[in-house]
Amino acid sequence: MISVVFFGDIVGSKGRSRLKRDLPLLLEHYSFDFILANAENAAHGKGITPKIVDELCEAGIDAMSLGNHSYSKSEVMWLDASKPVAFPKNLIGQFQDRHSVILTKNNVTLALMSVMGNVFMENTDASWVDSLKSMSQVNADIKICDFHAETTSEKYIVLHTFHEQFSAILGTHTHVQTNDAHVYNGCAYITDVGMCGPFPSILGRDKDEVLRRFIKKEKTHYTVSNEEAMLSFVVMLFDDQYTPTQIQSYSILPHQNILEVIKDCDTMNMLRR
Ligand SMILES: [Fe+2]
Ligand SMILES: [Fe+2]
Repeated sequence: MISVVFFGDIVGSKGRSRLKRDLPLLLEHYSFDFILANAENAAHGKGITPKIVDELCEAGIDAMSLGNHSYSKSEVMWLDASKPVAFPKNLIGQFQDRHSVILTKNNVTLALMSVMGNVFMENTDASWVDSLKSMSQVNADIKICDFHAETTSEKYIVLHTFHEQFSAILGTHTHVQTNDAHVYNGCAYITDVGMCGPFPSILGRDKDEVLRRFIKKEKTHYTVSNEEAMLSFVVMLFDDQYTPTQIQSYSILPHQNILEVIKDCDTMNMLRR
């Protein structure tokens, strides 16, 4: 059995702090073969920097995928190609060819890949159909696609088009976890993993500021919220043929203890040390 955990969009320092606090707790009691995350909002809510990539790697993340904010911080241009970061294949930018990170552990190779949806998304230069067709040629035992998109319908269309080519298709970007994690014809799927970021908030942003923008039409900056962070993630299990057998979603609120929330879950119990 192979186990993989994937954390939803890490938002700002609060999201990073919660992850750094809870991941060691999780690893003390449970074992995972691969630890993945979406990190497109890790640098103060927008983008990522080489320093934060190193910080997340030190915290235990094996590989991270990005999204529409991939290039929001100029420092990202200095990110070394050896770092385990997957940029969306169809988002215009200098690292489009770094769309897949290949990891090997215990003789199992896993590819984490990044692609964006086309609906309500800017700066894509290709449809996900063409991108995913070529990405599916990547050679790995387990292929995990982070599909970074806005609409639930587009995410389900990807599942029903590419379930034979990928081991898992995980939706990210909306920052709100959906309750539909399931295995469909050999492909683990969830419409959105959710976020690791401040809560309560509007998708990680200060809620009062966003309300002023929506209701009073004030020009505001979408400041990252100062609230403590929630943690959203999925855990997937694969059999020895690399076929997913389970996918389970978890959402831990700021005041909740991660070990308490997950202690009676069947999936987690299979991973106890
Ligand atoms: Fe995001
Ligand atoms: Fe996004």
